[in-house]
Amino acid sequence: MDDILKLQNITMDFGGLRAVDSLNITIKKGEILALIGPNGAGKSTVFNCVAGVYKPTGGEIYFQNKKIAGKKPWNLCEIGLARTFQIVKPFPSKTVLYNVMTASFLKTSSIKIAEKKAIDILKLFDFEDKKNIKAGNLTIADLKRLEIAKAMATEPKLLLLDEVMAGLRPSEVDDMVSIIKKVRDGGVTIFVIEHIMRAIMALSDKITVIQFGKKIAQGLPAEIAKNEQVIKAYLGDDYDLS
Ligand SMILES: Nc1ncnc2c1ncn2[C@@H]1O[C@H](COP(=O)(O)OP(=O)(O)O)[C@@H](O)[C@H]1O
Ligand SMILES: [Mg+2]
Repeated sequence: MDDILKLQNITMDFGGLRAVDSLNITIKKGEILALIGPNGAGKSTVFNCVAGVYKPTGGEIYFQNKKIAGKKPWNLCEIGLARTFQIVKPFPSKTVLYNVMTASFLKTSSIKIAEKKAIDILKLFDFEDKKNIKAGNLTIADLKRLEIAKAMATEPKLLLLDEVMAGLRPSEVDDMVSIIKKVRDGGVTIFVIEHIMRAIMALSDKITVIQFGKKIAQGLPAEIAKNEQVIKAYLGDDYDLS
């Protein structure tokens, strides 16, 4: 009903390796759901299955009640499912504005409309002052911001964010948290992978924890923070609990 995304028994095998194992996740419209877990747990693979990079070996994915497993990324983007990449991929010799406009052309062929939409997004992200800077000259924080701005220019209903805060300073993390909240307040549902627990706690409505491709816990941030099994799964891992 109000579910925008539903993963039903998703399994993804790479040869003999089961990266995702019968995973069930449901995201409600307007929700921010965080997917966390140790390195190699299968988080990015889950995103790649949802975004159409991989066709899951088993299970089904529903986006707005339509089956999407195996559909191509560009077709998914057209129907409102956008993602960012852990490794950012801008056109480095082009300006911030050009990069965002390029993404706008998915939904319009008018240069005027594409530019207006791009400028609106840059304003929302307090990024307009950098519109003429070449992407190759941006800081990591601004590259991550550009990555989300590009995704927003495709007018998503659901946005997948893969570690957009990695490598950011604490104040930059706070800025990113407020940008993501603004995006959600604009009506976009958010599925986020993140390592920085402080940001996860500030952002998420719900957290799903996976290990070895399987769900080990799910709940409200406060519940997850005191879940014994979750704490145990992360001991000795590289989680930033500050
Ligand atoms: N394209 C691939 N081919 C083979 N193995 C892969 C591929 N992508 C991921 N894996 C493996 O799947 C497991 C989960 O990886 P990944 O989803 O990247 O984890 P996470 O994002 O949680 O760190 C890892 O063991 C990884 O080596
Ligand atoms: Mg990953």
